[in-house]
Amino acid sequence: MKIPKLQIGSLSANIPIVQGGMGVRVSLASLASAVANEGGIGTISSIGLGDLEDSKQEYERISREALITEIRKARSMTDGHLAVNFMGVLSNVNDLIKTSIQEGIKMIVFGAGLPTKLPALVPDPSVNLVPIISSARVAEFILRTWDKRYERTTDGLILEGPLAGGHLGFSAEQLEHPEDYSLEKLLPEVLEAIKSYEDKYGKKIPVITGGGIYNGKDIARMLYLGASGVQMGTRFVCTEECDVSQQFKQAYLEAKEKDIVIIKSPVGMPGRAINNRFLKDLEVKGKLKINCPYRCLTACKVKTARYCIALALVNSYFGDVDHGLIFCGQNAYRVDKITTVKELIQELLWELKEA
Ligand SMILES: Cc1cc2nc3c(=O)[nH]c(=O)nc-3n(C[C@H](O)[C@H](O)[C@H](O)COP(=O)(O)O)c2cc1C
Repeated sequence: MKIPKLQIGSLSANIPIVQGGMGVRVSLASLASAVANEGGIGTISSIGLGDLEDSKQEYERISREALITEIRKARSMTDGHLAVNFMGVLSNVNDLIKTSIQEGIKMIVFGAGLPTKLPALVPDPSVNLVPIISSARVAEFILRTWDKRYERTTDGLILEGPLAGGHLGFSAEQLEHPEDYSLEKLLPEVLEAIKSYEDKYGKKIPVITGGGIYNGKDIARMLYLGASGVQMGTRFVCTEECDVSQQFKQAYLEAKEKDIVIIKSPVGMPGRAINNRFLKDLEVKGKLKINCPYRCLTACKVKTARYCIALALVNSYFGDVDHGLIFCGQNAYRVDKITTVKELIQELLWELKEA
């Protein structure tokens, strides 16, 4: 079997694997460039790069400069395809998107919010716009809005199912029945919803599925069902190149299935994480003190939030996991070794061919 390429607008990746953007600082230049070097699409996360002690203005300036540093560093490490991931709930999201484009990034991935104004912010057609969606209804809404307002359509869609890591586009109730929202159910609905826009604009809108994709057999199943590629996060965390601390990776290796839980995030969405000391302490304390001079998230209600999610994620990044949140996908408990990106991708492609 020939491994299919993944075409997203003007980008053509040699393998149908996108490494999902992982904030805070989990997927930076090292991981993204390693994936791009193997022929996939490596995604730098733009989230939480600022210094948490600073004023809003300083926070935004440092975030911008840190993103430029990561993009340039990644570029110096690969000639492959790089994307940057953004969350709509970031207060400085527009600034970071503009910065990425100035730095030559050709793929913008937009989640945690509806990208209704994204084409106005990025009118350059050579930049590929890829919203993250969790249902056919959301896909239809975005495509209809862009069609009416901007006479353009998306260059791709990332369909993230309920087994993914990080923030999730499903309600807590929906997450109690993930089988009702499986990628196998959602994907055909999305493919149907986008058909008329593909016809109108005379181009294929590739759908990339993510959330719980663990091995080559899973990739084969998604491609068979009509996905153009897959997005994977959890598997890439336990690689040598992943930018996060060793302690974060170790928590994945030690996690049991029962340790993987759904949390209510101050972002206003549920998220999936490892039930570690930090979450257990929070359960007892109820609320942690928050010092927030910079308001990094529009959706975070500082007065009522139980903890600062940016700080909790930064702590884990630096290795202080007892005071930190460890986001993960539902399959994190299955990961049993740290490998290299090259070995992981070779294994996935071998399994894909076998399947
Ligand atoms: C540690 C971690 C952090 C993540 N952070 C983000 C993020 O900041 N933005 C985003 O769009 N997705 C985020 N995700 C989701 C991934 O990009 C990816 O879509 C998802 O993890 C795929 O599911 P999988 O982990 O089962 O492979 C995160 C996932 C993990 C594991």
